[in-house]
Amino acid sequence: MSEPIRVLVTGAAGQIAYSLLFGIAKGDVFGANQPIILVLLDITPMLPVLEGVVMELQDCALPLLKEVIPTDKEEVAFKDLDAAILVGSMPRRDGMERKDLLKANVAIFKSQGTALENYAKKTVKVLVVGNPANTNCLIAAKSAPSIPKENFSCLTRLDHNRARSQVAMRCGVPATHVKNVIIWGNHSSTQYPDVYHCKVNMAGSDLACFDAVKDDTWLKGEFIATVQQRGAAVIKARKLSSAMSAAKAICDHMRDIWSGTPEGEFISMGVYSKGNAYGVPDDLIYSFPVQIKGQSWKFVEGLAINDFSRGKMDETAKELVEERDTAMSFLGV
Ligand code: NAI
Repeated sequence: MSEPIRVLVTGAAGQIAYSLLFGIAKGDVFGANQPIILVLLDITPMLPVLEGVVMELQDCALPLLKEVIPTDKEEVAFKDLDAAILVGSMPRRDGMERKDLLKANVAIFKSQGTALENYAKKTVKVLVVGNPANTNCLIAAKSAPSIPKENFSCLTRLDHNRARSQVAMRCGVPATHVKNVIIWGNHSSTQYPDVYHCKVNMAGSDLACFDAVKDDTWLKGEFIATVQQRGAAVIKARKLSSAMSAAKAICDHMRDIWSGTPEGEFISMGVYSKGNAYGVPDDLIYSFPVQIKGQSWKFVEGLAINDFSRGKMDETAKELVEERDTAMSFLGV
């Protein structure tokens, strides 16, 4: 068995964490032979709830879980981290303007980015889940200048999985027979689920998604809207936001960062845009198709982008630029 790694989950008393922690602690993310010290951060009023979560983790009697550290202090939470999963954020309250929400979150992610800078290992892998995930991630990355920007990513894997499943259900195949869907841009309703490079395995051979589905109108219309609006649909039905599926997507995302993506496949995640990749403005956290090997990701290169896709990719980029500029104005930059 190797040395334990230190893994932080913030918002640890919340509903996503409740679905997530078991998967991490039993080895689904960092491997079946990797011992873990789980650090759980939440705000002070939630500490009694967090105690209950700690008790349950202890009661799972899991062999890989070496220690659980609940805390409300950043200097404890961020110390010597190998991985940080930042789930906790300020939720939108009734009557709250988008701008006020962003302002509250900029303050949280500036503080947590600074704590990463001061206390975490420089090799730490940081996944931001709390919304607005892309911009929160950018603020955290900018607040931790000595940690490479490539170590920061935000979660669009849930959107990716949703797109995959929609296509799979339409074709009557398991989701694992659908690969290389892409989510471009923001984890918001402007995101663009792109299936122009997606392949569907039907009766043993890989078909282009459009040939497998045989309904271009659906793929270019209802499919996109369904994926974009799925989060809202879950909230409407459940009266709570996606938690089980979000936790599964977090496990998928971090497992791929740790162990790599399968040969010939790519996945979507929000990463730091640079070099005008796919015509996306630099200095955003934008969701791209990436491949991961040796714990570092690369943009998938050379995918053809048609006019339909271009328009949608630009629209979501525009939203992210505005969000970034507003966030930066709160930082006085
Ligand atoms: P929740 O409200 O059940 O839990 C959030 C937890 O974060 C609470 O326990 C709260 O006390 C804690 N928290 C708030 N501020 C904190 C801080 N500064 N430090 C540490 N903890 C803090 O919410 P839930 O359902 O677990 O969702 C968490 C976030 O994930 C939300 O922002 C939600 O919008 C986002 N989300 C993102 C998805 C994505 O695909 N990127 C998918 C689903 C949810």
